[in-house]
Amino acid sequence: MNFHVMTLFPEMIENGLGESIIGRAAKAGYISYQAVNIRDYTQEKHGKVDDYPYGGGAGMLIQPQPVYDCYEDITKGMKAKPRTIYLTPQGRRFDQKFARELSREEELVFLCGHYEGIDERVLEEIVTDYVSIGDYVLTGGELPVMVMIDAIARLVPGVLNNEFSAETESFHNDLLEYPQYTRPPVWKDKEVPQVLLSGNHNNIVKWRLEQSEERTKERRPDLYAKYQRKQEIIKRLSKKKRFYIHMMELLNRGIGEVLYERNMDIVLYEPDSELYMVSAESKESADYLVEKYLKDAGLVLTTSEEVVQVLIAKKNMRVNEKVWQYVYTLKEPLPVKYKDIRRLTMEHLSYVTEHYDENEAYLRRLIEKGHMFGAFVEDKIVGFVGIHVEGSCGLLFVDSACRGMGLGQSLENYIINYVKSLGFTPYGHVVEGNVASTKLQEKNGLYISEEPLYWVGFE
Ligand code: ADE
Repeated sequence: MNFHVMTLFPEMIENGLGESIIGRAAKAGYISYQAVNIRDYTQEKHGKVDDYPYGGGAGMLIQPQPVYDCYEDITKGMKAKPRTIYLTPQGRRFDQKFARELSREEELVFLCGHYEGIDERVLEEIVTDYVSIGDYVLTGGELPVMVMIDAIARLVPGVLNNEFSAETESFHNDLLEYPQYTRPPVWKDKEVPQVLLSGNHNNIVKWRLEQSEERTKERRPDLYAKYQRKQEIIKRLSKKKRFYIHMMELLNRGIGEVLYERNMDIVLYEPDSELYMVSAESKESADYLVEKYLKDAGLVLTTSEEVVQVLIAKKNMRVNEKVWQYVYTLKEPLPVKYKDIRRLTMEHLSYVTEHYDENEAYLRRLIEKGHMFGAFVEDKIVGFVGIHVEGSCGLLFVDSACRGMGLGQSLENYIINYVKSLGFTPYGHVVEGNVASTKLQEKNGLYISEEPLYWVGFE
C-alpha cells in the first residue's frame, strides 16, 4: 500500500513516520510513503503558494495551481483515480472502521491544508474524502495525516510482524483491551491477577473477556451499548445454534456490522469479504430485506429459502452452494496425531493456489492474516487447512500421495483447536455429499445443522 502526502512541510511527515514500526514496515516494503512539497510546483518565481482570500478575511489561502500540478504529478502513473483525502475539522470523523476501509486501498493521497485553507476549486477537482481526526482545530493537516497513516498502516498485513494480525490480536473488536501485566509478579504490593499465572488457557481467555467488558462499560458506555445489542442478537440466534452459528460468530468476533434486526429478521455485513448474512422469518420479510439492504450485494449467506427465491427473481443471483453447518461443541481440544503442522507464509502461496479453487488474492489475504496452516513431511508442504474471512473453518486439502495417513483429520482437528484457543466457537460448512460422513463425527463433538444454508452470488 502506498501513501502520498501533499504538504508544505514534508520533513514533518518524513521525521514523524520514519521511526519505529511504520518506518520499519516501509523499509521492509510492506508499505511506502512519500511526502511531496506543494511548493515545488509553484510557477511563482519567489516560491509563493498562497494569496489573500477574495472578499476579504483573515489569513492566506493556498492557491489551486501548485496543488493541482502536485496531484497530477503524484497520480500520473496510477491506473485509477485514487481516494484523495483532505484533512479538515469539517470532515467525516476518522475511526477504526474507516481505517479498516481505507487499509484495503492500494494508493491513498492526502492533502494537508495550512494557513486558513485551500482554494475551493482545487478541492472540488481532486478530493474524494474530507476527513477530521476529532473535534478540535490544529494548525495544519500534517499531524492528522500521520495519525491516519499510522492507524491504517498497522492494518496492512505484514506491518505488525507479530504472530497474530491486527484483527485477531484484539480479542473482541467491539471491546477495549483487557489489562496486561509483566514481571515482577508483585510490585508496590500489587499482585498480578492469579489467573494469569495459572497456565489455564481457557480461564485466561474467559478472564480477559470479562475484563474487556468491564473496562468498556466503564470507559466507553457508547461502545458497550453497541456490544450489548450484539450480545442480545447472539442470544436470540443461540436458540438454534447450529443453524445460526455463522451469524453468532460474526458478531462474537466483532467483525460484523448489524444492518437490521427485528426478531429473527436479521441482516449482518462483513466488510472485508463484502458478505451479507441474512435470516428472515417470512416471505414478506425476505422481500423487504432484499429490497432495502441487499441492493448492492454480490455475495449472500442465508438461512432463508425465501431470501434465496427473492435474490434469484429480483437480482438474477444464483445458488453457488447449498451447505450444512457443523459446530464444535466440546470444551476439550481434539487429538492432533500428525505433529508437523505450522502456519503458512507467502512462500507457500503457489502451492495453495495450485491445489485450491479460489482466487489468488483471497488465498493471499488468508495467508497474510495468519489464517492458513499446512502439514509438512520432511519440510515439504503436503496439505493445508484454514479459516475463511467470515470465520468458518475450511480450505482443507491433502496431497494425493499422502492420503490415508490421517493428515486430513489432523489438519481439521488442528484448525478447530486453534479457533477454540482464541476463545471462539469453531464451525464450518459441508456440502451435500459430505453430510453423511460428517454426521459420523458427532461422537467427536461436531454437530451438523438440521437444515441447510445457501451461498448466493453471481458465480
Ligand atoms: N486540520 C486542522 N484540524 C484538523 C482536525 N481536527 N482533523 C483533521 N484535519 C485538521
